[in-house]
Amino acid sequence: MVFDYFVDAESGQMQPWTEKVGKFGYNASEAFANIFVPSIESTRLTFLLQSFIKNKHYCMFVGNAGTGKTALMRESLKNLDGEHWAFSTVNMNNFMDAPALQVIIEQPLEKKSGVRFGPPGAKKLVYFFDDMNMPFVDKYDTQSPIELARQFVDYHGWYDKTKIVLKEIQNAQYMACMNPTAGSFNITPRMQRHFVTLAVQMPSKEGVRSVFAQIIEGHLSNFDTDVGKYSGKITDASIELHSLVANTFLPSAVKFHYQVRIWAFPNPDTVCRSSRVITDPFLLNTQWNLRELSNITQGICRALPEFFTTPLTLCRLWIHECERVFGDRMVHHADITKFDEMRLGVTKKVRPWSFPKSRHTVCPYKTDTFLFQKKYFPEENQDDMELRPISYNAFMKFDSNDEGKCTVYCP
Ligand SMILES: Nc1ncnc2c1ncn2[C@@H]1O[C@H](COP(=O)(O)OP(=O)(O)O)[C@@H](O)[C@H]1O
Ligand SMILES: [Mg+2]
Repeated sequence: MVFDYFVDAESGQMQPWTEKVGKFGYNASEAFANIFVPSIESTRLTFLLQSFIKNKHYCMFVGNAGTGKTALMRESLKNLDGEHWAFSTVNMNNFMDAPALQVIIEQPLEKKSGVRFGPPGAKKLVYFFDDMNMPFVDKYDTQSPIELARQFVDYHGWYDKTKIVLKEIQNAQYMACMNPTAGSFNITPRMQRHFVTLAVQMPSKEGVRSVFAQIIEGHLSNFDTDVGKYSGKITDASIELHSLVANTFLPSAVKFHYQVRIWAFPNPDTVCRSSRVITDPFLLNTQWNLRELSNITQGICRALPEFFTTPLTLCRLWIHECERVFGDRMVHHADITKFDEMRLGVTKKVRPWSFPKSRHTVCPYKTDTFLFQKKYFPEENQDDMELRPISYNAFMKFDSNDEGKCTVYCP
């Protein structure tokens, strides 16, 4: 309830966050990784985050992989007033130790006087620690980079290792993200206590649709009008296929990369904290996430209007992207077949001889009914959509002007 509304400074009234959601403008020249579509959830979290930053409170986003934590934090930091603020991103990983972190966090600093260091000019610096719980836990049950970072919070600096003096760091603060189902799961409570911790959840189906539909719609806006009309259908089809895959392909020892809800049995010798020893099995909730949808969308956004002049070519591109994003992660022929079946959405019995032996020799599928594709792309001839072999080279041909040495892009 507290987070459902914001107080409008002008009217003094409580207003729902929908009032504050910004408009998304697609910019084709922007790198795909920098595209961010505002939603109610992101507007709320960005507002809170910016308030914390301006009031010098540390804030941490905690959530499962692919829920958009990094994207959200990056977008908020990018939107800070560049005249007064600077930010530095530190991607933490399992191999990072304190000396490695010290080199990285000292880069944006300059010497002010004596042992005082700070960001250039009168700017304030925000360090963004991404995946903060990733560094390995050493034999002392500590994560050395986090202990180094903690020295700044508790003692306003860290040590110069040659002169053995405390370097005083000014005008800096931390923001962080972490996934509680990865790395060491949690960080030392001595560091954690300094952060306001906010949960980032997987957006709702409508939220996800709104994000990716707006991106695809923006990209297809300068395509042929017939092609442009397909933006909603492509998004719906991707989301439905994504949820089908997420509910069907469960992980096992062999297929550990099929991520979904699993029980984890931690080893208390390696995963322990002085305050909390994890011995009981617990549920890891790492689902097939926004990244797959983002990858499909990114593939669609690489399409150029001059090559994709008919809806059929766009549908084929969509099939290709789904094959690359989902299909290529399948490890058994049975799974590949099941996925192909799923994509086609066959409801009636499929003739067993209709599936190819190798996925790279895909010929027209001879199935009795195509429901899934038919549901979203009913105008298209389903056989035609499947005609082209689906592989990386499906969009390449040898350039005849170049004696066939180089491949050229070919829709
Ligand atoms: N609001 C959004 N607008 C556009 N893309 C988004 C949005 N939220 C998440 N994404 C995309 O979803 C994918 C996963 O997000 P990411 O920030 O990497 O998740 P996390 O850090 O939680 O693992 C990224 O490719 C990101 O670009
Ligand atoms: Mg991340």
